Amino acid sequence: MKPDEVARTTIVRDILLDIAGAETALERHHVDYCCGGALALEEACCRAGADVHAVIATLIDEASKPGAQAPRDREMLSVPLVDLVKKIVDDHHARERADATSLVALARDAVAVDGASDARLAKIVALLETHFGELLPHLAFEERHVFPYVVALERAGLDGTPPPAALFATITEPIAEMIHEHETADHQLHDLRALAHDYVAPPTASDATRALYAALAEHERELVRHMHLEGNVLFPRAERLEQKVRAAFRSPRRRA
Ligand SMILES: [Fe+2]
Ligand SMILES: [Fe+2]
Repeated sequence: MKPDEVARTTIVRDILLDIAGAETALERHHVDYCCGGALALEEACCRAGADVHAVIATLIDEASKPGAQAPRDREMLSVPLVDLVKKIVDDHHARERADATSLVALARDAVAVDGASDARLAKIVALLETHFGELLPHLAFEERHVFPYVVALERAGLDGTPPPAALFATITEPIAEMIHEHETADHQLHDLRALAHDYVAPPTASDATRALYAALAEHERELVRHMHLEGNVLFPRAERLEQKVRAAFRSPRRRA
Protein backbone atom coordinates (compact mmCIF):
# COMPACT_ATOMS: atom_id res chain seq x y z
CA MET A 1 0.00 0.00 0.00
CA LYS A 2 1.25 3.47 -0.85
CA PRO A 3 0.62 6.35 1.58
CA ASP A 4 -1.78 8.06 -0.84
CA GLU A 5 -3.84 4.87 -0.99
CA VAL A 6 -4.73 5.08 2.71
CA ALA A 7 -8.47 5.62 3.10
CA ARG A 8 -10.85 6.07 6.02
CA THR A 9 -11.67 2.38 5.86
CA THR A 10 -8.06 1.15 5.83
CA ILE A 11 -7.26 -1.07 8.81
CA VAL A 12 -4.81 0.55 11.21
CA ARG A 13 -2.52 -2.49 11.48
CA ASP A 14 -2.14 -2.60 7.68
CA ILE A 15 -1.05 1.04 7.70
CA LEU A 16 1.41 0.34 10.48
CA LEU A 17 2.95 -2.67 8.78
CA ASP A 18 3.05 -1.13 5.30
CA ILE A 19 3.87 2.55 5.48
CA ALA A 20 7.13 4.19 6.51
CA GLY A 21 6.82 6.63 9.40
CA ALA A 22 3.31 5.42 10.30
CA GLU A 23 4.09 5.00 14.00
CA THR A 24 5.29 8.59 14.22
CA ALA A 25 2.25 9.89 12.33
CA LEU A 26 -0.28 7.96 14.42
CA GLU A 27 1.43 8.87 17.69
CA ARG A 28 1.35 12.55 16.71
CA HIS A 29 -2.45 12.36 16.62
CA HIS A 30 -2.66 10.05 19.67
CA VAL A 31 -4.26 7.34 17.54
CA ASP A 32 -3.95 4.07 19.45
CA TYR A 33 -2.34 1.44 17.25
CA CYS A 34 -1.36 -1.11 19.86
CA CYS A 35 -4.88 -2.08 20.96
CA GLY A 36 -6.79 -0.49 18.10
CA GLY A 37 -4.90 -2.16 15.28
CA ALA A 38 -7.93 -4.07 14.03
CA LEU A 39 -10.04 -0.92 13.64
CA ALA A 40 -10.63 1.05 10.48
CA LEU A 41 -8.62 4.27 10.54
CA GLU A 42 -11.78 6.37 10.75
CA GLU A 43 -12.98 4.55 13.89
CA ALA A 44 -9.52 4.71 15.51
CA CYS A 45 -9.36 8.45 14.78
CA CYS A 46 -12.87 8.93 16.17
CA ARG A 47 -11.85 7.24 19.44
CA ALA A 48 -8.76 9.44 19.64
CA GLY A 49 -10.70 12.61 18.85
CA ALA A 50 -8.53 13.08 15.76
CA ASP A 51 -9.57 14.26 12.31
CA VAL A 52 -9.11 11.37 9.88
CA HIS A 53 -8.20 13.66 6.98
CA ALA A 54 -5.51 15.36 9.07
CA VAL A 55 -4.14 11.94 10.08
CA ILE A 56 -3.99 10.79 6.44
CA ALA A 57 -2.21 14.03 5.53
CA THR A 58 0.33 13.41 8.31
CA LEU A 59 0.83 9.80 7.16
CA ILE A 60 1.63 11.02 3.63
CA ASP A 61 3.89 13.76 4.97
CA GLU A 62 5.83 11.45 7.34
CA ALA A 63 6.26 8.77 4.67
CA SER A 64 7.76 11.32 2.26
CA LYS A 65 10.50 12.37 4.70
CA PRO A 66 13.95 11.05 3.71
CA GLY A 67 14.59 9.61 7.19
CA ALA A 68 11.14 8.05 7.65
CA GLN A 69 11.39 4.88 9.69
CA ALA A 70 10.64 1.82 7.55
CA PRO A 71 7.82 -0.40 8.84
CA ARG A 72 9.98 -2.40 11.24
CA ASP A 73 7.68 -5.33 11.76
CA ARG A 74 7.08 -6.37 8.18
CA GLU A 75 9.49 -9.28 8.55
CA MET A 76 7.52 -10.44 11.59
CA LEU A 77 4.67 -11.28 9.23
CA SER A 78 6.70 -14.13 7.76
CA VAL A 79 9.17 -15.33 10.41
CA PRO A 80 8.29 -18.73 11.92
CA LEU A 81 5.80 -18.24 14.74
CA VAL A 82 8.08 -20.20 17.06
CA ASP A 83 10.70 -17.46 16.57
CA LEU A 84 8.19 -14.66 17.03
CA VAL A 85 6.94 -16.23 20.27
CA LYS A 86 10.53 -16.62 21.50
CA LYS A 87 11.27 -12.99 20.71
CA ILE A 88 8.20 -11.84 22.64
CA VAL A 89 9.07 -13.96 25.68
CA ASP A 90 12.81 -13.27 25.68
CA ASP A 91 12.68 -9.56 24.84
CA HIS A 92 9.39 -8.34 26.24
CA HIS A 93 8.12 -10.64 28.98
CA ALA A 94 11.58 -10.75 30.55
CA ARG A 95 11.84 -6.96 30.45
CA GLU A 96 8.42 -6.43 31.97
CA ARG A 97 9.08 -8.90 34.79
CA ALA A 98 12.21 -6.89 35.60
CA ASP A 99 10.17 -3.66 35.43
CA ALA A 100 7.69 -5.10 37.96
CA THR A 101 10.43 -5.11 40.58
CA SER A 102 12.44 -2.05 39.61
CA LEU A 103 9.58 0.37 38.87
CA VAL A 104 7.76 -0.21 42.14
CA ALA A 105 11.07 0.23 44.00
CA LEU A 106 11.79 3.47 42.10
CA ALA A 107 8.29 4.76 42.87
CA ARG A 108 8.71 4.03 46.59
CA ASP A 109 12.06 5.86 46.54
CA ALA A 110 10.35 8.86 44.94
CA VAL A 111 7.61 8.82 47.59
CA ALA A 112 10.27 8.77 50.33
CA VAL A 113 11.92 11.89 48.90
CA ASP A 114 9.11 13.91 47.30
CA GLY A 115 5.96 12.25 48.63
CA ALA A 116 5.18 15.01 51.14
CA SER A 117 5.00 17.64 48.38
CA ASP A 118 3.54 15.48 45.60
CA ALA A 119 0.61 13.30 46.61
CA ARG A 120 0.48 11.83 43.10
CA LEU A 121 3.58 9.74 43.78
CA ALA A 122 1.75 7.54 46.32
CA LYS A 123 -1.01 7.07 43.73
CA ILE A 124 1.63 5.99 41.20
CA VAL A 125 2.87 3.33 43.64
CA ALA A 126 -0.68 2.01 44.12
CA LEU A 127 -1.40 2.02 40.38
CA LEU A 128 1.87 0.27 39.58
CA GLU A 129 1.01 -2.46 42.10
CA THR A 130 -2.37 -2.95 40.38
CA HIS A 131 -0.78 -2.78 36.92
CA PHE A 132 1.84 -5.43 37.58
CA GLY A 133 -0.56 -7.47 39.70
CA GLU A 134 -2.58 -7.94 36.50
CA LEU A 135 0.22 -7.92 33.93
CA LEU A 136 2.33 -10.71 35.44
CA PRO A 137 -0.51 -13.30 35.42
CA HIS A 138 -1.27 -12.18 31.84
CA LEU A 139 2.30 -13.00 30.79
CA ALA A 140 2.15 -16.34 32.61
CA PHE A 141 -1.16 -17.28 30.93
CA GLU A 142 0.26 -16.53 27.49
CA GLU A 143 3.36 -18.60 28.19
CA ARG A 144 1.42 -21.49 29.70
CA HIS A 145 -1.59 -21.73 27.38
CA VAL A 146 -1.52 -19.46 24.33
CA PHE A 147 2.07 -19.60 23.06
CA PRO A 148 2.57 -23.39 23.37
CA TYR A 149 -0.65 -23.88 21.40
CA VAL A 150 0.55 -21.51 18.66
CA VAL A 151 3.90 -23.31 18.41
CA ALA A 152 2.18 -26.72 18.34
CA LEU A 153 -0.22 -25.45 15.70
CA GLU A 154 2.63 -24.36 13.48
CA ARG A 155 4.32 -27.75 13.96
CA ALA A 156 1.08 -29.54 13.08
CA GLY A 157 0.76 -27.43 9.93
CA LEU A 158 4.28 -28.37 8.86
CA ASP A 159 3.94 -32.06 9.73
CA GLY A 160 0.39 -32.48 8.45
CA THR A 161 -0.72 -33.82 11.81
CA PRO A 162 -3.98 -32.98 13.63
CA PRO A 163 -4.32 -29.59 15.31
CA PRO A 164 -3.15 -29.73 18.93
CA ALA A 165 -5.60 -30.25 21.78
CA ALA A 166 -6.47 -27.15 23.79
CA LEU A 167 -8.57 -26.01 26.72
CA PHE A 168 -10.47 -23.69 24.35
CA ALA A 169 -12.65 -24.38 21.31
CA THR A 170 -10.70 -21.95 19.17
CA ILE A 171 -7.78 -19.63 19.79
CA THR A 172 -10.10 -16.69 19.21
CA GLU A 173 -11.39 -17.20 22.78
CA PRO A 174 -8.13 -16.63 24.70
CA ILE A 175 -7.08 -13.96 22.18
CA ALA A 176 -10.23 -11.96 22.96
CA GLU A 177 -9.34 -12.18 26.65
CA MET A 178 -5.72 -11.21 25.98
CA ILE A 179 -6.82 -8.20 23.91
CA HIS A 180 -9.18 -7.14 26.69
CA GLU A 181 -6.30 -7.30 29.16
CA HIS A 182 -4.10 -5.32 26.79
CA GLU A 183 -6.77 -2.61 26.73
CA THR A 184 -6.81 -2.57 30.53
CA ALA A 185 -3.03 -2.26 30.60
CA ASP A 186 -3.21 0.52 28.01
CA HIS A 187 -5.65 2.46 30.20
CA GLN A 188 -3.31 2.02 33.15
CA LEU A 189 -0.43 3.39 31.06
CA HIS A 190 -2.53 6.45 30.24
CA ASP A 191 -3.39 6.93 33.93
CA LEU A 192 0.26 6.58 34.93
CA ARG A 193 1.25 9.18 32.34
CA ALA A 194 -1.43 11.56 33.59
CA LEU A 195 -0.33 11.13 37.22
CA ALA A 196 3.30 11.69 36.23
CA HIS A 197 2.80 15.02 34.46
CA ASP A 198 3.25 13.47 31.00
CA TYR A 199 6.67 12.30 32.20
CA VAL A 200 8.00 15.84 32.33
CA ALA A 201 9.40 16.22 35.82
CA PRO A 202 8.61 19.52 37.60
CA PRO A 203 11.67 21.75 38.13
CA THR A 204 11.58 21.02 41.87
CA ALA A 205 11.55 17.23 41.43
CA SER A 206 14.35 15.22 43.01
CA ASP A 207 16.63 12.84 41.15
CA ALA A 208 14.50 9.99 42.52
CA THR A 209 11.35 11.33 40.86
CA ARG A 210 13.20 12.09 37.62
CA ALA A 211 14.53 8.53 37.54
CA LEU A 212 10.99 7.24 38.11
CA TYR A 213 9.52 9.32 35.28
CA ALA A 214 12.25 8.19 32.86
CA ALA A 215 11.68 4.54 33.79
CA LEU A 216 7.90 4.89 33.45
CA ALA A 217 8.26 6.43 29.99
CA GLU A 218 10.52 3.54 28.94
CA HIS A 219 8.07 0.99 30.36
CA GLU A 220 5.26 2.56 28.36
CA ARG A 221 7.28 2.38 25.11
CA GLU A 222 8.23 -1.20 25.82
CA LEU A 223 4.73 -2.42 26.71
CA VAL A 224 3.05 -0.65 23.78
CA ARG A 225 5.52 -2.30 21.41
CA HIS A 226 4.91 -5.69 23.07
CA MET A 227 1.12 -5.39 22.82
CA HIS A 228 1.43 -4.24 19.21
CA LEU A 229 3.51 -7.29 18.27
CA GLU A 230 0.91 -9.58 19.79
CA GLY A 231 -2.31 -7.81 18.85
CA ASN A 232 -1.31 -6.76 15.34
CA VAL A 233 1.05 -9.53 14.29
CA LEU A 234 1.10 -12.71 16.37
CA PHE A 235 -2.58 -13.10 17.19
CA PRO A 236 -3.95 -12.46 13.66
CA ARG A 237 -1.33 -14.84 12.25
CA ALA A 238 -2.26 -17.50 14.81
CA GLU A 239 -5.97 -17.19 14.02
CA ARG A 240 -5.36 -17.55 10.29
CA LEU A 241 -3.05 -20.51 10.87
CA GLU A 242 -5.58 -22.27 13.07
CA GLN A 243 -8.23 -21.95 10.36
CA LYS A 244 -5.80 -23.25 7.76
CA VAL A 245 -4.61 -26.24 9.80
CA ARG A 246 -8.14 -27.22 10.80
CA ALA A 247 -9.41 -26.87 7.24
CA ALA A 248 -6.54 -28.97 5.89
CA PHE A 249 -7.16 -31.71 8.44
CA ARG A 250 -10.89 -31.73 7.71
CA SER A 251 -10.38 -32.00 3.95
CA PRO A 252 -11.44 -35.31 2.35
CA ARG A 253 -8.01 -35.73 0.80
CA ARG A 254 -6.37 -35.54 4.22
CA ARG A 255 -8.76 -38.12 5.69
CA ALA A 256 -8.34 -40.54 2.76
FE1 LIG B 1 2.86 -11.02 25.94
FE1 LIG C 1 -0.24 -9.99 25.88
